[in-house]
Amino acid sequence: MKHFTQFESLSLSKTLIQSALAYKANPLIDVQKGFKKRIGCIFLNPSLRTRASTQIAALNLGMEPIVVNMDKEGWALEMREGAIMNKGTVEHIKDAAAVLGSYFDILAIRAFPSLTNKTEDIEDFVFNQFIKYSGKPVISLESAIRHPLQSLADMITIQEHWKEARKPKVVLTWAPHIKAIPHAVANSFAEWAIGNDHDVTITHPVGYELDPIFTKGAHITHNQAEALADADFVYVKNWSAFNDYGKIHSTDSSWMLTEKHFEAAPQAKVMHCLPVRRNVELSDEILDGSRSIVQEQATNRIYAAQAVISHLLG
Ligand code: CP
Repeated sequence: MKHFTQFESLSLSKTLIQSALAYKANPLIDVQKGFKKRIGCIFLNPSLRTRASTQIAALNLGMEPIVVNMDKEGWALEMREGAIMNKGTVEHIKDAAAVLGSYFDILAIRAFPSLTNKTEDIEDFVFNQFIKYSGKPVISLESAIRHPLQSLADMITIQEHWKEARKPKVVLTWAPHIKAIPHAVANSFAEWAIGNDHDVTITHPVGYELDPIFTKGAHITHNQAEALADADFVYVKNWSAFNDYGKIHSTDSSWMLTEKHFEAAPQAKVMHCLPVRRNVELSDEILDGSRSIVQEQATNRIYAAQAVISHLLG
């Protein structure tokens, strides 16, 4: 693994999950591994969990994390090749990324999609500019189309809860939201859950089909009740339309899960990456009840990041 940007293979996923669980049991076991090394955590967008958990993970490995809030504190970046920079942008991405590459041993980047320029977003253009020009291993802290550290933490959380021999039935359900939300978490969760050989069902209203490159192998239905029946894990997430790119087609509150939705899945655990809009995406009774494992997912973000950074350190 040169960079950590997506699901690569079941064997690598298993290795990272085992490594994360070992770090969870003994967080400081490799505290010398990153001695005299620095990781640059570059944020082009807001974050709570990713920002804090990645720094803790680096510190657990004896590595120095430095956060750069490029959206608020950096220069306005130019992305276009050959641009005549006589307007608002101050620094070209190729210069900024090369500088950051010279400062750090590993770079970690958060770069959300525009949700208006579909071509650039699905190429992960901004994120890939950092890979292209930094010359260093790059970890995705959520790109335009994927959030692999979140998905690795989600796979760890499922493994911790799942003790049966059969495959768990894992349901990804769309939930309402008031804003247009990126596809990265949903794409990545589907990619990793299918890659980890879970029995995956995706349910959403008409018009919310995800990019099929992420959902091949999943059962897809517009009938949420059918999807939820016998579910073991239910991952709740909003995303905007992909085909009618970045648009909101539905805010149907009947898609927000309450206890009533779980009559045919009494044992199901509920997952969400957070942040969550309570009583819009998910009800208080689910989030505050015993089927919610959202806090465990957030805790596992530390050990997912620690496993990935450790792997890249070699
Ligand atoms: N789940 C997640 O990535 O949270 P933040 O956006 O707060 O980092």
